[in-house]
Amino acid sequence: MTRTKIAVVTGGSRGLGRNMALRLAEKGNDIILTYNSNRTEADKVVAAIRGMGRKAEAMQLDTADSKGLDSFLRKVSEHLEQHTGSGKFDFLVNNAGTAAHHPIAETPEQTIDEMYNIHLKGVFLLTERSIPYLNDNGRIINISSGLTRFSLPGYAAYASMKGAIEVFTRYLAKELGSRGITANTVAPGLTETDFTRPFLPSGEEGMKQAGSIFALGRVGRPEDIGGVVAWLCTDDARWVTAQRIEVSGGQLI
Ligand SMILES: NC(=O)c1ccc[n+]([C@@H]2O[C@H](COP(=O)([O-])OP(=O)(O)OC[C@H]3O[C@@H](n4cnc5c(N)ncnc54)[C@H](OP(=O)(O)O)[C@@H]3O)[C@@H](O)[C@H]2O)c1
Repeated sequence: MTRTKIAVVTGGSRGLGRNMALRLAEKGNDIILTYNSNRTEADKVVAAIRGMGRKAEAMQLDTADSKGLDSFLRKVSEHLEQHTGSGKFDFLVNNAGTAAHHPIAETPEQTIDEMYNIHLKGVFLLTERSIPYLNDNGRIINISSGLTRFSLPGYAAYASMKGAIEVFTRYLAKELGSRGITANTVAPGLTETDFTRPFLPSGEEGMKQAGSIFALGRVGRPEDIGGVVAWLCTDDARWVTAQRIEVSGGQLI
């Protein structure tokens, strides 16, 4: 019998991460998802996954706080040891994140630090420290953004960190490939979540207008994204590594 694989999805409580966690569970994986402050939403996702007959657990994690990463991973490992007999997992999905919007000339230093801590340093360190806990033939998926290919004014601090993560991902692929571990970036285009709602127009007409810059004619939805992450965690994707896969419905091509 094949062993059930385990995915750790950061920010799996809402938006894109929620859909990733659900789609990974649909494919037969057990899930540990993290939230930062909103436990209620995390518990709803856990309940939905358990309703599918899969195991799920929500754990608090602030990926911008490097001091908490080791204790988080110890907690994950102890939980897995207790429930599966092995303290290791198979897939790490670095998804958690927040946005910032300032023209370069008005970007506060604090925003640069925040974007660095959550989108680059946090992802780097959590991945680095996860390496001993990752099973051979595992997968690392880092969530980037369409904003590393096209440039929209106001996103310099955010997109610069995402660009760095794409480089980091190629290095991960190189250094961990000998263990059969793949590393890829998934780069969503503009997708309707709590993260983007403040920047999206309200009303049908405004959303239609926003959708006109997409080849497929509309703004993305979380359910457009999660399946790609889940697919990368299947055996069919074992030969895909060091890639940036844009999932944007052809935004600004
Ligand atoms: N939506 C888009 O258009 C879009 C496009 C390209 C890339 N992305 C990327 O996709 C990822 C998810 O975005 P989303 O749209 O799904 O956002 P979202 O709906 O706002 O959800 C964000 C998730 O990240 C968690 N989170 C926030 N700050 C955190 C922190 N400091 N430490 C740990 N977890 C934290 C949240 O937990 P709580 O609920 O507890 O706050 C929540 O689970 C981000 O990396 C974002 O950059 C999004």
